[in-house]
Amino acid sequence: MSSFAESSADSHEHPQGACPVTGKTYDFCPRQAGDVRSPCPALNALANHGYLPRDGKNIGVWDLVRGLKNGYQLSTVLACLLSFGAMLLLGQYRCLSLSDLARHNMIEHNASLVHRDDNNGAEYAPTKVDRKLLAALCAEGGKLLPNRITLEDAAHIRVKREAQCGKLDGVHAEIARGEIVIAIGVLGGKDALKNGVNISALHEWMQHERLPTGWRPDHTQGLYQTYKMAKYVRERMREIGAQQPPNKPGEY
Ligand code: HEM
Ligand SMILES: [Mg+2]
Repeated sequence: MSSFAESSADSHEHPQGACPVTGKTYDFCPRQAGDVRSPCPALNALANHGYLPRDGKNIGVWDLVRGLKNGYQLSTVLACLLSFGAMLLLGQYRCLSLSDLARHNMIEHNASLVHRDDNNGAEYAPTKVDRKLLAALCAEGGKLLPNRITLEDAAHIRVKREAQCGKLDGVHAEIARGEIVIAIGVLGGKDALKNGVNISALHEWMQHERLPTGWRPDHTQGLYQTYKMAKYVRERMREIGAQQPPNKPGEY
């Protein structure tokens, strides 16, 4: 390694979204001073690997589409739907910074899996991953298949989080389901519908916002596949929710 790379590997800046250490590669480099990040582990990981500007700023809709396709092998249709949908929901049509995505109740919602709620009426929700919530998410896996978080587990976790934090409106409930479903679909591989995702891969991705070690996309994650998975989770959530006694106010 050159002395330049050695001296700048610890802490450096990402001027114009480029990294002086990793150069044009997609190697991992965590957030540096001046970078901004979102409450989305998927987009933060794309920025940490250079599939999105590494500073998290000035991201146009086609940057998002390209990043989702190159980093996670989403189909063009799914990548466009998410990217144009996000710009529309945010009301930002030219470009965005990852930090804009934390604006509460635009796309961001309560009852997140690994982020605390924005309870003080703040305009922006936390973007930092909560270690306890992440541990609780991972502890929910392994019940059906060893070392895996399946769609069934995802349904249980979503019901639990909404019981703790309050029920989400229809749009945000659908968004919240979509998030974990795409994560399981992409990281779990082509059999994710049945087999879910490896718990430590999901943990590594969420905690470090880094593509899991040894992971590569093995299929194109499309809209129909994602719809089927989300429908399964929606139906299971309805059944699980119906079996539970209603929460008393303030009770977890
Ligand atoms: C243009 C594309 C995308 C946008 C704009 C976006 C935006 C967001 C936002 C705003 C949140 C915060 C919601 C909250 O928890 O309150 C979020 C969470 C999340 N996103 Fe994304 N996302 C995108 C693509 C993806 C993809 C492709 C995946 C999976 C590979 C993904 C996985 C997740 C997960 C698992 C969470 C939940 C984090 C938590 O519950 O704490 N997202 N996303
Ligand atoms: Mg949230």
